[in-house]
Formats: sequence, C-alpha cells, structure tokens
Amino acid sequence: MKILVVGGGGREHALVWKISHSPKVKKIYCAPGNGGISELAECVDIAAANVTELVEFAKNHSIDLTVVAPEDPLAMGMADAMQKAGLRVFGPAKDAAAIESSKVFAKNLMKKYGIPTAEYRVFEEYNEAVEYVKKARYPIVIKAEGLALGKGVIIVKNADEANQALKAMMVDYAFGQAGQRVVVEEYLTGSEVTVMAFTDGKNFKPMVSAQDHKRVYDNDEGSNTGGMGAFSPSRVYTPGIAKQVEEIIIGPTIEAMAKEGRPFQGVLYFGLMLTEKGPKVLEYNARFGDPETQVVLPRLKTDIIDIFEAVTEKRLDQIDIQWEDNAAVCVVLASGGYPGEYSKGYKITGIESAVDDSGVIVFHSGTRQEDGEFYTNGGRVLGVTAVAGDLDSAIHKVYQGVDKIHFQHMHYRRDIGRK
Ligand code: AMP
Ligand code: GLY
Repeated sequence: MKILVVGGGGREHALVWKISHSPKVKKIYCAPGNGGISELAECVDIAAANVTELVEFAKNHSIDLTVVAPEDPLAMGMADAMQKAGLRVFGPAKDAAAIESSKVFAKNLMKKYGIPTAEYRVFEEYNEAVEYVKKARYPIVIKAEGLALGKGVIIVKNADEANQALKAMMVDYAFGQAGQRVVVEEYLTGSEVTVMAFTDGKNFKPMVSAQDHKRVYDNDEGSNTGGMGAFSPSRVYTPGIAKQVEEIIIGPTIEAMAKEGRPFQGVLYFGLMLTEKGPKVLEYNARFGDPETQVVLPRLKTDIIDIFEAVTEKRLDQIDIQWEDNAAVCVVLASGGYPGEYSKGYKITGIESAVDDSGVIVFHSGTRQEDGEFYTNGGRVLGVTAVAGDLDSAIHKVYQGVDKIHFQHMHYRRDIGRK
C-alpha cells in the first residue's frame, strides 16, 4: 500500500514510524513532514492545510490511504474532499470534526445527550458576558469557541481577569474568528487524563490512557504550551473508571454524533477530568493528541494499518486490538524561550547515541535535515520517548536518553511522568 500522512510534527513522526512497521506498506509520503520523518517517508512540500493540492497529490500518486492528523485540515473538510475524489481517508468529515472546531457545538451536544461536562453558558454579546461574570463564583474558565492552538482557554480568578479575557477574545479578536463566541464554564478540579478511541462511527475501541504535561516548567509552573511531555498509562485511570468512561462518555458521544447525522470516523480524543463527582469531559479533539500519540503508539501491538482499514470499512467490531503491558514516557526538548519567542537553526547532536539504548525512540517535532545533520526548526524540537516494563523504569531510561542530546538553549522538564 501507498500511504500519505498529513502533518509534520512529533505526532506525525510517531504515526509514520508505526505505519512503517506494517508489512502491508510499501511507500509512505508525509506532507509536509520534518527532518526525522524524512528518514522513514518521502516528505512532500505541500502544507497540511492545502486541501486542493493534497487531494491532487493523492490522486496522482495512487495513494491507497490518507491519514489526516492535524485539526486544521479536518476542520477545513480535507476528509470530505478526499472521499469526494474517490480516495480512502482516515479522519472525520468536516461536520464531525466540529466536535473540536466548535466548543459551542461540543458543549451543546453533551448537554443534549446527558454527557457529563462542566456547567456552562455561551455568549455572543460582549456586554452580556461582562454582566454574567460580575456575578460568577471564581475561578471560572473562559474559552474561545474555535481552534486556537490550545491557547484559547483562560482560567480566571476574578472579574477583572474575566473582563480582560473577554475583551481580548470578543473585542480585540486575539484569536480571530475563533473568539466571536465564548463559552464561560465551571472550573473543575481533579486529575486530568487523556483517552483516545478509534471509531468507525458506530463501534469504538479505546486506546491505552495517557497524561500530558502542558505547562512549560517543572511542577506545572509557567505558561501553557502545546505539551512538554506525556506518559502512558495514567496511574489514576483504573479499569473501573475506564469502564465507567466507556459507558457514560465514549459510547454516548459516538452514538450522539451518529444521531446528529455526523457519524465520526477516525480518532476521537477525550480530555477528561476525574472529579469527585465522577469523570467529566474537558474537551474533545477530532484527532490523535500530541504528544500523547508519542507514548500511546509505541505500546500498540496490532498493525495500525489493520485498524485504519477496519475503521474506514466500518468493521471495527471485527478486529481485536492488542496493547503491550508496559509503560512509555516522552520528554519534549524545546527551544529556550518557547512558548514565547525563540531562535532556531541550532545543530542537534547525540540523537544516534540516545537511540542506541534499547527502548529509546526520538520523534522529531521541529527539525530540519541538512547534509546528514539535524538543526532545530521550531519551538518543540524533539520528543524523546522510552518504553519499559513500568513507568519508573521508563522515566529513568528516558532521561538517560535526554542526557545524550544537546543543542544550544535546549529546555525540557525534569519531572515528566511524576504525577
Ligand atoms: P481545553 O483546550 O478545553 O482542553 O483546555 C485546556 C486546558 O485547560 C485543559 O487541559 C485543562 O487543564 C484546562 N481546563 C479546561 N477546561 C477546564 C475546566 N472546566 N476546569 C478546569 N480546567 C479546565
Ligand atoms: N495534547 C493535547 C492535544 O493534542 O491537543
């Protein structure tokens, strides 16, 4: 088979790596890919959001299956366009991807179908939102409706902060169109867990659980990032909670989407808060998570192409998906300054010796390859992942790998996996 993976970060490197293990696969393309991906796939210089050119590319290269990984092309209707052109695609249609691209749609869906989530109100008028937050009990959470690279969620402690957030979103358009409508919601406390599930629109198979570390510094200090690391499994997501989540959240969400005439095909990501009153949904994503995918896929035993085929042929119930009984930890190596301003173009050394340790894999997020050397080319540069029998061994091993890698102004967290 010829496979096209759309995207070019650590998540896509993990996907390409897993796909490359399938005996069914003869050739992998990745658009746009990155330095590390280019060792496993032919990188194609087309942007992930360029729907028209990628459909053309898939047609011209007789691609058997396209895997659309990032949210933007899904929200723009890339899966629909591929299907219309008679091409096989893994990933939801535009109206199903709305579960991520519109927080208002997602919240209203949960309310309509009784899926547990934080209490909320939706505002289109700035003045009404300002009136509402005068009387709120703090902290509360203010979310821009649309896609904002994980930055459109602001937790506020008082009315002043709430006003600032509302003004930024609804008056100054800090998140563009994404902030035209806002969701103001109850602040939930508990442990955050990520659970992703493969689904064909009717059947679903949950993956192993994971947790990510969003803040830039140790002990969850500093600003939010796209993710500084992740580990799998979660220590708090017990089999009992998993069963409950499948019954009251995963199953009902997939059924709700089908009833709404928006059957969801692909990976549905559940960002959960395990509260005192039970698990509740913080957010849905219409795709694999990043960096969670970098710790979940290394634990998958089953050929991922078999799963993708079962999903696209709507027979996911007929396949048995197997996971290793082990643990994985991923530490993100970032450019100093990220998520704010940073410089790039620094030479990276030590990747090969880090990988020599059995069980260490280095996924590239933002790198560029030139004359056989890798250079930094983004905020998040590498995801160093170690797989071992248990979490503590994986943590030990991952930092042994990290210690061997260097580039100027490299920054990473030293407490990944310890929560
Ligand atoms: P989201 O993009 O909606 O997942 O939000 C980003 C992060 O904000 C989440 O991973 C949580 O850490 C936090 N968050 C979102 N909603 C809430 C909430 N209702 N209560 C507490 N924290 C939240
Ligand atoms: N790790 C969160 C996300 O993929 O959006």
